Amino acid sequence: MITNTELEIKGNQFPSNIISYDKNIDTFQFYTANGVTLKVTILRDSVIRFRYSTTGIFDKDFSYGITKYANSGYDILEIEETDKEYLITTEKLICSIKKENAKVSIFDAKDKSLINQDEIGFHWEESYQHGGNIVKMSKVSRKGESYYGLGDKPTHLNLKGKRFQNWVTDSYAYGKDSDPIYKAIPFFTGLHEGKSYGIFFDNTFRTYFDFAHERKDVMSFWAQGGEMNYYFMYGPEMSKVIANYTDLTGKPHQMPPLWSLGFQQCKWSYYPESKVKEITSKFRELQIPCDAIYLDIDYMEGFRCFTWNKEYFPDPKRMVKELSDDGFKTVAIIDPGIKIDMEYSVFKEGLENDYFCKRADGPYMKGKVWPGQCYFPDYTNPEVREWWSGLFKELIEDIGVKGVWNDMNEPAVMEVPNKTFPDDVRHDYEGNPCSHRKAHNIYGMQMARATYHGLKKFAFPKRPFVITRAAYSGTQRYCCTWTGDNVASWEHLWIANVQAQRMSMSGYSFVGSDIGGFAEQPDGELFARWIQLGIFHPFCRVHSSGDHGDQEPWTFGDEVTGIVRKFIELRYQLLPYLYTAFWKYYNDGTPILNSLVMYDQSDIQTHFRTDEFIFGDKILVCPILEPNSKGRRMYIPRGDWYNMWDDELISGGKELWVNSDIDTMPIFIKSGAIIPKYPVQQYVEEKNIKEVTLDVYYKLGAEKSYLFDDAHDGFDYTKGKYSYRTFKLKGKEEELIVQQHKSGRYSAGYEKFKIKLHALPFIMSKIEIDNEEIELDLVKGNDDNTLIIDKDFNELHISGQKIV
Ligand code: GLC
Repeated sequence: MITNTELEIKGNQFPSNIISYDKNIDTFQFYTANGVTLKVTILRDSVIRFRYSTTGIFDKDFSYGITKYANSGYDILEIEETDKEYLITTEKLICSIKKENAKVSIFDAKDKSLINQDEIGFHWEESYQHGGNIVKMSKVSRKGESYYGLGDKPTHLNLKGKRFQNWVTDSYAYGKDSDPIYKAIPFFTGLHEGKSYGIFFDNTFRTYFDFAHERKDVMSFWAQGGEMNYYFMYGPEMSKVIANYTDLTGKPHQMPPLWSLGFQQCKWSYYPESKVKEITSKFRELQIPCDAIYLDIDYMEGFRCFTWNKEYFPDPKRMVKELSDDGFKTVAIIDPGIKIDMEYSVFKEGLENDYFCKRADGPYMKGKVWPGQCYFPDYTNPEVREWWSGLFKELIEDIGVKGVWNDMNEPAVMEVPNKTFPDDVRHDYEGNPCSHRKAHNIYGMQMARATYHGLKKFAFPKRPFVITRAAYSGTQRYCCTWTGDNVASWEHLWIANVQAQRMSMSGYSFVGSDIGGFAEQPDGELFARWIQLGIFHPFCRVHSSGDHGDQEPWTFGDEVTGIVRKFIELRYQLLPYLYTAFWKYYNDGTPILNSLVMYDQSDIQTHFRTDEFIFGDKILVCPILEPNSKGRRMYIPRGDWYNMWDDELISGGKELWVNSDIDTMPIFIKSGAIIPKYPVQQYVEEKNIKEVTLDVYYKLGAEKSYLFDDAHDGFDYTKGKYSYRTFKLKGKEEELIVQQHKSGRYSAGYEKFKIKLHALPFIMSKIEIDNEEIELDLVKGNDDNTLIIDKDFNELHISGQKIV
């Protein structure tokens, strides 16, 4: 009997020996005797692209994943031919291609160590059913090698030993290890002996990744169609690999409006208008900061997108304005399914202009979603996207809605076994017509893109705010995302933590979970613990389905309300710190959440840690993930850290118990850090801020910190109207020096910094600002360790006598 595996093996074909090669500027093509062409393009010294064709003809070079803004250019590029191989050398890498079988090995150019190596390497099976090939790649997996990335997989951070597939899927109440779920991000990083590399397999078909699961010394990836087309990027630091990947697939096109980093409250659904107002008023009454209120599908007329239910919301423009006067930005949901209804203008327009997706033999793609039977726009057609963008005029420009939440865009279809379109549905794919097999994974991304452009146009001169549920690599350019329909359980709190970190290490930092859980209802303890984690996620929103009771900060009694308020207030204090971290992400692709392995990859203790992470680059957080906890054990990475609650200094590189009753959680600040803080506000821009606090944590030694600021909305920052401050801290036994370097052309509304000195080991006796001695009383704040000084100082020099 022939087994499936044998059939597969029988079907596999492999490149034979290389018979010639040619070079064109940055691209080499190697030709094998059996007709395979390997195209190697050097994008940067540390980024190499590999493409394989089995016919000598390559697909048209088009990708939704790669951005046209990606950096390119290299310092060195040489090729050498020996008896056995070709060697391509850049400043960072040496790439060897074996003449015998076209297998690739990649080495660090400096110390010549092996970074990554083909096992079988490229091979393929012909696909009789669909045409083209099933394309495959296998690499050697080395002892001690670890793997990270792949977007939203709800599993242990380290992917070693597991197999996954990427197929964007509506996954209500998914569980730990469910696969696939909402996102398809075919990018991972490998880490071996302290060196990290990344592979982005830019193929939109259903893709698979096996991390030493089937065979313990083999890592492989493959796709059901398309090309073997992958980018190899080198660090050796993991953070550089991720920055390289983010550069390639795109950093966010814009800074978010600062309010979108504030707290947001959502439910399926708040209606009618009086209910919405009741919720927002309660926030203000209880003094719990909140910036956004959400409208889920019930605001629409029979779930028709771009309409309003006039019974529930008789005058949306007035309501949105009144909410806005109270500091609330209104965010509304939009789905891709357009109800089949000749009386409905959006449907009629779509039909008349031929904008809806069709089946292979001609009928429209018809499927059931919230409004009943629907047709679906083909967002892979630029003309359809343009039309879709235009549909937002009324909602955004006239009514004043500030953000749009794209949902069900996998696309989700109800009551069908595969939960989405059948494979044969046709798509334009930017003029390269194809079936849903190829377009499925980018459908939601293209919807989000069209929505983003609509909001960009109609929200101008303000910044648009868009959210998506489905995503492919590169979607981070357009919008923020959330992790879909999770569950109010402790296990899901763990999942939310892992997913946000994993998304961040997959180039997508603007992420959060439905705080408290979407399905089912949390108890007060779980809700409080989830808020504690959620305030450290860039997107911070409570959301739940209506079926299981309320989920507002005040639902669980006074104690929980108090805890929730305290942590949301901390979030608002940390806004300038988070905004600065976002600037770094926007500017150079640096992730906002850093798992411990990214923070210190040379410490192997970090390779299997999941719970702790660094928020930005200075705040170490570890959520409490179990009920009835009075604290937990956690790993403190190497270096010195202050417990945020009592300034106790801990030296890291070890696991320890940290007390953390329900009203607190483990938070540590890196020694030497300067953390900028705003006063608590009920919403962003509520107050005219007069002073920004700098929490300065003493260190014997040096450390750099940063502060970005601008108008918090609008686009003036793109014309240099921002300020970027670098603080260099230097601590000695009886001295502390803070130097400030400023760049940019923005002058903030506040004049003063309130400097709060933490853990100063000496009693201050002398203060010099810009080389001039200042009487202590003139700058002293309300306690011995606080100074209030002009924000534009160049150097602050504090000295005194050591405390004995
Ligand atoms: C989907 C979304 C959820 C939303 C619901 C109703 O389940 O994931 O967030 O509330 O649809 O629109």
